[in-house]
Amino acid sequence: AQEVSTITLKPTDSAPIINKNIYGHFAEHLGRLIYDGLYVGEDSSIPNTKGVRNDIIKALKDLDIPVLRWPGGCFADTYHWKDGIGPKEDRPTIVNQWWGGVTEDNSFGTHNFLDLCEELETEPYLAANVGSGTVKELADWVQYVNHAGVSPMSKLRQENGRKEPWKVTYWGVGNEAWGCGGHMTAEYYANVYKKYATFMTDWNNGTGLYRIASGANAGDYHWTEVLMRDIPTNLLEGVALHSYSVIDWSNKGSATGFTKKQYFQTMQRALHMEELVTRHSAIMDKYDPENKVALIVDEWGGWYDVEEGTNPGFLYQQNTMRDAMIAGTTLNIFNNHARRVKMANLAQAVNVLQAVILTDGEKMLLTPTYWVMQMYKVHQDATLIPLNLEGENYVMDGEELPAISASASKAKDGKVHISLVNIDSENAHEVSIDLSEMTLSDLSARILTSKNVQDYNSFEDPESIKPVPFKDFKMKKGKLDVEVPPFSVIVFGEK
Ligand code: AHR
Repeated sequence: AQEVSTITLKPTDSAPIINKNIYGHFAEHLGRLIYDGLYVGEDSSIPNTKGVRNDIIKALKDLDIPVLRWPGGCFADTYHWKDGIGPKEDRPTIVNQWWGGVTEDNSFGTHNFLDLCEELETEPYLAANVGSGTVKELADWVQYVNHAGVSPMSKLRQENGRKEPWKVTYWGVGNEAWGCGGHMTAEYYANVYKKYATFMTDWNNGTGLYRIASGANAGDYHWTEVLMRDIPTNLLEGVALHSYSVIDWSNKGSATGFTKKQYFQTMQRALHMEELVTRHSAIMDKYDPENKVALIVDEWGGWYDVEEGTNPGFLYQQNTMRDAMIAGTTLNIFNNHARRVKMANLAQAVNVLQAVILTDGEKMLLTPTYWVMQMYKVHQDATLIPLNLEGENYVMDGEELPAISASASKAKDGKVHISLVNIDSENAHEVSIDLSEMTLSDLSARILTSKNVQDYNSFEDPESIKPVPFKDFKMKKGKLDVEVPPFSVIVFGEK
């Protein structure tokens, strides 16, 4: 018989706001994400707005996505933004050297992306080309999208049909500078970063630029140490971190046909995010005790072998309840680390890696990961309620992981929400939540679960997994008692 896991909510006045940007997304020129995914072109028979599928626009709007990163990833360090503006027929092609070697026609460029962000009411996050670009190219991009007055780039923007600047706040200065972004050392990149950041001008839009340095590969703490040590905080607003839940880079395993052991291993990798953000944050605390610079986890998610018969360079994978578990636990970790983690971008939005949306011709489906994001959006810009968790373990072949993960917040309207995950693929776990330090009204809840952890939404049965109302809990005398079924996510909220 399972023991009871206990959670105590500990509201405090000093708790941070959960920055809504933790619920951010990422759209790289990769496989079928932009072309044949999001962007079908204005002449497509698929209903679209300026070439972007209306069904995807609606789905992303329903998620309230706060920020969208573009155009890469590794692609960003090969991308020359001037090739993607002006009359489409005059644009040069670009060969996507990292992802399948396909030739693109540059028909989706800066205007398309920034207009889409306006349509979605989401903040754009532009990833600049440091690896194969120049300081001038980036300075010009900033001027092109942000300068309201008379300047060469604002003139060019206006000639291309856009009078007012878009006011882009978030800028990535290169991507994975330790790898596809140039194979640099941290020490070398810190100098390169400073040079680029110096020439990025905030054109007095009142927004202030938010410059994000290309960050560490998972547990490379030296990288964060050097960046925080060598870059003055007046040149730096964020430091990135990338970490994927991968069992083994040379044998990632199927996205759907995985064993219980592989499921456990994926969860080990996902929960490792707790250690990563704790240790990177501690380094940042040392150099930036005033917490001016944010930790930006701008790539995270599950990464498996591509679906059979698809281009290995396109990173197309299905999305099961395992991915819902990655999303639920990871977002709880980010919420609980909201003091330092101020943005995160799931990799990636459509048809690539742990996507929230998959398409097949005219068809579109929402994945279990989409539904976790949808259930958790109540945490966006809410005040964190810290908690103590003493949980039971999920045990496999003598190895253990905490079965239960949780986070809680109080929204601007005063309503409290609690998100709870049980990653155990075999056992339900009883959880008792002590709410005695707060006054709560009646709660309602929704659950995301399925029969098998390998279950997914297919184009034949696109709605088999989605959240449903959940009533199987008891609340009395400041206590919430619930039995959380195996591999399920529950979000409670005050009515
Ligand atoms: O998300 C896919 C790739 O993973 C990105 O292009 C790169 O930054 C990372 O290695």
